[in-house]
Amino acid sequence: MKEKLIERLNKKTAVIGIIGLGYVGLPLMIRYTEIGYKVLGIDIDQSKVNALMQGNSIIKNISAEKIQTALVHGFEATTDFSRLVEADALILCIPTPLNKYREPDLSYVVDTTDAILPYLRKGQIVSLESTTYPGTTEEELLPRIESTDLKVGENIFLVYSPEREDPGNTLFTTRTIPKVLGGITPACLEVGRALYGNAIDQLVEVSSTKVAEMTKLLENIHRAVNIGLVNELKILAHKMDIDIYEVINAAATKPFGFTPYYPGPGLGGHCIPIDPFYLTWKAKEVGLRTRFIELAGEINTNMPKYVVQKVGDALNSVGKSIKGSKILILGLAYKKNIDDLRESPSLELIDELIERGGNISFIDPFFKTIPRTRKHNIKLRGEKLNPQTLSSADLILLATDHDDFDYQMITDHSSLIVDTRGRLKSSKNVIKA
Ligand SMILES: NC(=O)c1ccc[n+]([C@@H]2O[C@H](COP(=O)([O-])OP(=O)(O)OC[C@H]3O[C@@H](n4cnc5c(N)ncnc54)[C@H](O)[C@@H]3O)[C@@H](O)[C@H]2O)c1
Repeated sequence: MKEKLIERLNKKTAVIGIIGLGYVGLPLMIRYTEIGYKVLGIDIDQSKVNALMQGNSIIKNISAEKIQTALVHGFEATTDFSRLVEADALILCIPTPLNKYREPDLSYVVDTTDAILPYLRKGQIVSLESTTYPGTTEEELLPRIESTDLKVGENIFLVYSPEREDPGNTLFTTRTIPKVLGGITPACLEVGRALYGNAIDQLVEVSSTKVAEMTKLLENIHRAVNIGLVNELKILAHKMDIDIYEVINAAATKPFGFTPYYPGPGLGGHCIPIDPFYLTWKAKEVGLRTRFIELAGEINTNMPKYVVQKVGDALNSVGKSIKGSKILILGLAYKKNIDDLRESPSLELIDELIERGGNISFIDPFFKTIPRTRKHNIKLRGEKLNPQTLSSADLILLATDHDDFDYQMITDHSSLIVDTRGRLKSSKNVIKA
């Protein structure tokens, strides 16, 4: 069973099923089709499936051309789960958000696992890629899979291999980012090696799925905690009239033992504001607290409020208030050069400023309107970046420093700017926040 599957994977005759065609699933699909595998993509969102089948992309960083090439090479998208019997590998790339109590919402993982059960058969490998707490694969997937007549490690194989995708990062690709891999049994790991070893340059094999799950969380916690640290130090630096960016850049010249992290208006994206709390929740099971995670969370969550206070102070300094002032937000996405709004601090800033009576508008090259999210329903239309729009605003709030913005035009035509990204030179009318 195992040998046959490994052979199919190595000969690339195996069909790769990817469940969840989002920021993680799509790049993986492209990589597999690029090297000669047939990929069956499954998603519950019919509109995404239709768009992909028509050769359109649904993510800014993936061109329509890449989707069209993938279609030519045998990619097919569908909402029909029963097609999964055709797949030799089933890779799960579904969301793992938090619920409103900031606890892990594993419903997507559990529902998807339940949805694939009827189509599992001997000689398949199942891989979970979604970020999650240590124990998920063993506690949630393994018993469900074994509730059928299949036996993991004998006639079906189960691994966990976290995705390390960094949307917008042009230095690394799916192929060149080393991939961590843990299996339920040594046989699972062996099949996992065949699944990923042909697509990824370097595999980092670990002793269990739990270790692989916690590795991914450590990476994201490391970022969240260090961003919390620089965000706190930024507030102190402002009070002491020190440019925190100058400090970080000087410290970054140390050739060892220092990694630069940069402050901002708050955390965003599907990973850093969310994933650490998966561990916080799981830690309670063994009676422990994750104090660093909680402290960083508190500091980072308060950053939009700090920015709003700076906006108020800036307007006050020219005899105005937030209430009634025209405030133009530059950048909606949670980080520059991408079209991802998830958990974006810009939305928090807009809501806070509207609540205080600000007259808000926005510009973002990736958005004409603001799509509704789980937390926000903001009905604004995007404006165009030109000298008139800039000069008619009482204050410009640079929330996301997209490279597409013309920063010379921005500084030349704005009377007052609050810069949350350290993109502009400090001056009388540029306030850092
Ligand atoms: N976005 C990133 O940069 C990134 C990086 C590393 C890890 N991750 C992790 O990867 C996982 C997926 O994240 P993403 O950013 O790709 O999410 P996404 O929202 O972009 O994509 C998820 C896709 O899954 C689909 N989906 C939801 N429920 C489904 C179901 N039951 N069956 C089939 N499809 C379903 C959705 O329609 C969507 O297309 C998450 O756990 C995330 O934490 C994301």
